This record gives sequence, C-alpha cells and structure tokens, in this order.
Amino acid sequence: MTTKTLLLVTHSQTGTTRQMLAAVLRGISAAEDEGLTVVVRDALVATPAEVLSAQGVLLGTPENFGYMSGGLKHFFDRIYQPCLEHTQGLPYGLFIRAGNDGRGALASIERIVTGLRWRAIAPPVLMVGEDAASQLLACEELGQTMAVGLAAGIF
Ligand SMILES: Cc1cc2nc3c(=O)[nH]c(=O)nc-3n(C[C@H](O)[C@H](O)[C@H](O)COP(=O)(O)O)c2cc1C
Repeated sequence: MTTKTLLLVTHSQTGTTRQMLAAVLRGISAAEDEGLTVVVRDALVATPAEVLSAQGVLLGTPENFGYMSGGLKHFFDRIYQPCLEHTQGLPYGLFIRAGNDGRGALASIERIVTGLRWRAIAPPVLMVGEDAASQLLACEELGQTMAVGLAAGIF
C-alpha cells in the first residue's frame, strides 16, 4: 500500500477525452491500491499546489487546431513557474484524443514537459478517429502502470 497522490488533469470540449479518462480510472482501480489518493481535476481549475503535492501526473487533452486544448495550455501557463524548480523528475503520462492527427498536441505538450523535466512513464496514448477500443485498453494500461509503479516505488 502507498500513501502517494496521483493527479489527473484533463480537458474535454465535447466529451470524447472523458471516455479516455474513464478508461484510465478503470486501470487505476484495477491496481487495487487503496492507499493511493487519486485527484481528478479539470485543467481549467487544477492548481500549482495540487501539482506540487502529487507524486505522479496523468494529462489528457483533445487536439484542437493542431495544439493541446486551450484548457490544458491554461493549466501549464499557471503551473509552469511555480513548479519549475520543484517537480523535476515528476512521473507523468499522457493521453490525447484527435479527429485525424494528434501530432501537434503531442509536440506542444512534450515541449513543455521537457522544460519542466518531467519523466514519461509510458508512451503517450493517441486515440485518432474511430479507432476506439484498442486505445481505450491502452488508457487502462496507462492508469494501471502509473498506479502500480507508484505503489512499488518504481516511479
Ligand atoms: C475547435 C476544434 C479544433 C479541432 N482541431 C483538430 C486538429 O487540429 N486536429 C485533429 O486531429 N482534430 C481536431 N479536432 C477534433 C477533435 O480533436 C476531436 O473531435 C476530439 O475527439 C475532441 O475531443 P473532446 O470531445 O474531448 O473535446 C478539433 C475539434 C474542434 C472542436
């Protein structure tokens, strides 16, 4: 059992990214670590303090206009400076929902987390078009990997 905190920060305009979030949460539940505190926040309201008190972060966003959602960008705008010197090495995972691409959202986020020096725990899950089922499974695996890794002290 762990006493760590896992923060999930997501934004969804029309709900499809929330399906990925639900799958990630299923994966976290499957890890059966009752000591893990899971905090789910919309990117528009997540705070620097919540990032500073987390031992792991999972980020979810649609691709909008070839970039991460404005909501997630707003999150990074607010947390970057307060967290920069205090969260280096923070384990993170990423899931992206896109209509037909997703690479712009991925690149935009990777640029910022590289600046923060956060550490990816798994490849990003990119769900494009209607290829839903396999990528929802990948979201479950992402959540489970993070939860198990935090509990085991791997991350
Ligand atoms: C304003 C807007 C811009 C979009 N821009 C892109 C884009 O640049 N590339 C892409 O692959 N999909 C794009 N899409 C499609 C969304 O990524 C896709 O519909 C996604 O499932 C929306 O996620 P959500 O339901 O969580 O908001 C765009 C959708 C909207 C509404």
